[in-house]
Amino acid sequence: MANILLKHCSSLPFLLTILSFFSTFATIESQFFSRNPSPSSLGLKREKLSHLHFYFHDIVTAKNPTAVRVAQAPTTTLSSPFGAVVMIDDPLTINPDINSTLVGKAQGIYALASQSEASMLMVYNFAFMEGKYNGSNLSVLGRNSVFDSVRELSIVGGSGVFRFARGYAEARTHTFDLKTGNAVVEYNVYVFHY
Ligand SMILES: *[C@@H]1O[C@H](CO)[C@@H](O)[C@H](O)[C@H]1NC(C)=O
Ligand SMILES: *[C@@H]1O[C@H](CO)[C@@H](O)[C@H](O)[C@H]1NC(C)=O
Ligand SMILES: *[C@@H]1O[C@H](CO)[C@@H](O)[C@H](O)[C@H]1NC(C)=O
Repeated sequence: MANILLKHCSSLPFLLTILSFFSTFATIESQFFSRNPSPSSLGLKREKLSHLHFYFHDIVTAKNPTAVRVAQAPTTTLSSPFGAVVMIDDPLTINPDINSTLVGKAQGIYALASQSEASMLMVYNFAFMEGKYNGSNLSVLGRNSVFDSVRELSIVGGSGVFRFARGYAEARTHTFDLKTGNAVVEYNVYVFHY
């Protein structure tokens, strides 16, 4: 009898069956790969639409520029800027005046992405610092043809109060200094979130 059991235990298929039984059992007990929680279990109530309005300061020329070129193509020139890549930490203020209330920063990258016009790929986050938005972020991914009067960029997501965000941002140049390259851009952001 003992001999037979020993023979069974030492057989590989028998061991594997035992092992897989226990590992399946452990998986069910301790973790899951996918499930369907109710939105309220994440604290999500009704979806709402918010409209944010602020001014974006792209400061290229200053003692402490907020927009710095970090890369370019060998063929990039002032008259043919295709290939230039700029990193920004641009202040967002409530009025066009740079010294008005700071509501956040636009942090990310823009790159000259067209060979025939001043059109940029913009990838950045709005990191908000004001009121109930303090600490929440929105992520922007869009095309910006800077000489168009209105440009529309996609809001592709968010965090904090902007979890599950989606929407769009309208950008309008408020002032552009040809000599310094510094720009103030008015933003209207329309975003659905909870
Ligand atoms: C903003 O404040 C700084 C520092 O106080 C000052 O140097 C600058 O002239 C002000 N800018 C404007 C547009 O008022
Ligand atoms: C935003 O939050 C930070 C950290 O919680 C805090 O230090 C700061 O004072 C807040 N700013 C505003 C404008 O409420
Ligand atoms: C939003 O961005 C800030 C950085 O500005 C970061 O510290 C914070 O964790 C982000 N907020 C959330 C809710 O992820």
